[in-house]
Amino acid sequence: MGDSREALVEHLVFLAELGVPGLSAARSWRERPGEAPEPLAAPALEPAAPAAAGEAAAGNGPAAALDAIRDELGPDCDRCKLHRLGRRQVVFGVGSPSARLMFVGEAPGRDEDAQGIPFVGRAGQLLTKMIEAMGYRREDVYIANVIKCRPPENRNPMPDEVAACEPFLFRQVEAIRPVVIVALGTFAAQALLKTMDSISKLRGRVFTYGGARLVPTFHPAYLLRSPERKRDAWEDLKKAKALLEQDAGPSAEM
Ligand code: URA
Repeated sequence: MGDSREALVEHLVFLAELGVPGLSAARSWRERPGEAPEPLAAPALEPAAPAAAGEAAAGNGPAAALDAIRDELGPDCDRCKLHRLGRRQVVFGVGSPSARLMFVGEAPGRDEDAQGIPFVGRAGQLLTKMIEAMGYRREDVYIANVIKCRPPENRNPMPDEVAACEPFLFRQVEAIRPVVIVALGTFAAQALLKTMDSISKLRGRVFTYGGARLVPTFHPAYLLRSPERKRDAWEDLKKAKALLEQDAGPSAEM
């Protein structure tokens, strides 16, 4: 009881920080720690299971396509200098191969480099809360970065590193075919939109990337430093959610 009460208080405080008033009927608000979540009502973030299972068995679905991209990238990629600058492992991506919502970040940090999973450090914890505030679960979306190896001292990715690695991100998007992409921060938005504009200039608008709608917003690490921008980020996430719901039809519950 104590734990769920604390979790609820934490959730309310976080939503208040994001500028969300009142309570929500979203599924994530109704689940208690330790309780099995209800299955998502279709159409949800993932397509219906039979099609996905059939495709996977045939080896031509998004999961198989992602496996092929991961294999081609390889565990010891040396396409840029980051392989000799202290990275421990290639951090490919995580989540549902058939996700309708995809988040793209910049590059792995120390925690991600250690665990081999994107967004697991402090910024990752904030991203998880943002996903849950939208009413979704982290495992139902897909999360990847523009570059797959940690830059030393968490410096910004360099143009040659982005150029060597971004084709793999583009192919991940092609494999997953999300309905909506949320680009987290300047590097993700610039790589996907082929622009030099900063995230402050890009956010607040909706773009197109291939067949997907692209919503740029602030990077969670920036939001940790500048919490006053969380309200803007929440507006962007609401826009992303509305686009997903529009695509799924007016009666969809997500
Ligand atoms: N920041 C990113 O851009 N990606 C991660 O995976 C973690 C932090």
